[in-house]
Amino acid sequence: MAAFAHSESDRVVLLCRPGFESDCAQEIQWLAQRLNVYGYIKTESRQGYVEFIVFQPTDLTTLAAQLNSDSLMFARDFMVTGAAVSELDTLDRVSGMLDALAADFTCSTITPWTNDDNEGKSLAKLSRKLVKPLRNALEQRGQWQDSAQQALTILALATDRFYLGSLPVAAQPKWPNSIAHLKFPSQAPSRSTLKLEEAILFFLTAQQQENYFGLGKTAVDLGACPGGWTYQLVRREVQVFAIDNGAMDEGLMASGQVEHIKADGFVWRPQHPVTWLVCDMIEQPARVAALMADWLADGSAERALFNLKLPMKKRFQEVLKCCDIIAERLHAMPYDIKVKQLYHDREEVTVYLARTA
Ligand SMILES: C[S@@+](CC[C@H](N)C(=O)[O-])C[C@H]1O[C@@H](n2cnc3c(N)ncnc32)[C@H](O)[C@@H]1O
Repeated sequence: MAAFAHSESDRVVLLCRPGFESDCAQEIQWLAQRLNVYGYIKTESRQGYVEFIVFQPTDLTTLAAQLNSDSLMFARDFMVTGAAVSELDTLDRVSGMLDALAADFTCSTITPWTNDDNEGKSLAKLSRKLVKPLRNALEQRGQWQDSAQQALTILALATDRFYLGSLPVAAQPKWPNSIAHLKFPSQAPSRSTLKLEEAILFFLTAQQQENYFGLGKTAVDLGACPGGWTYQLVRREVQVFAIDNGAMDEGLMASGQVEHIKADGFVWRPQHPVTWLVCDMIEQPARVAALMADWLADGSAERALFNLKLPMKKRFQEVLKCCDIIAERLHAMPYDIKVKQLYHDREEVTVYLARTA
């Protein structure tokens, strides 16, 4: 097992959307408990990250081996670290950082973290500036190896205070800090188009995108109006049934690929099975989860991408409850489920659900 970056590692720090600290905290505690790893949480409201400090630092290896940024629902990234490195000389931060570094730690990459608030963004600039001098110093000390399996991560908390941590290269998120930089397509009728675009890029491999979209593929978009999600399907050459009592964007209707049906999304069903079921209805999450599972269970759709809106306080528990509902309804068939609070999600998570046989 490779060494952790911080010589006194005793915690996992998880980056999350500001305001979702308690959900992120509950998730890491839930995961740790399943591995018989115990510890306590330190966080503050809206600080954008959570610390999980383990009672037995030797347990960190067990916990870290099971973590993967892309599989965490509410965390955007994680690092194994120790107490923040403080009172750094602002004229030479690198030396102070190296003092905290384990002598046997080697890495092949350095990732500066961006905390998603205004102060965090300006501090992230400072972290980015430190990457090159830190790398040079690591090279000189023989702690930089292109084949190393660990990534060094830094999060600036103040100009003289940093977290210096690490995670396996293979456990890094798909995009740095899970920040999806997407350009809003000017023809799309609503900004929520970016949610479905991010979901497609995040959950599906390039090969899956090629296999499951394109001419001949069909989709149902429940709660489609004005058409931001439908737009993503249309641009991927899919034929779409848009279900909503509202008004659809005229440009999308002119594509000839959309049939707008004014009906209740909880009642309407297609005459033939479709490739995709997508759903952005603002409804109780448990109700949406049950609906999605039923479509897959009776063969109305092959796979689904949907949002679970989470305006309640106990969001993590609500997501677990929805996963249980899906498991109960799909008990007889193998399926794949992935849940993530995507970068473009707000009080919601996105779910990918597919039958695998
Ligand atoms: C958040 S908006 C959807 C935005 C859309 N995904 C887009 O990108 O433009 C939610 C939509 O769900 C629709 N909706 C809510 N309950 C519905 C139901 N039971 N059946 C059909 N549509 C419903 C609303 O009319 C509303 O247009």
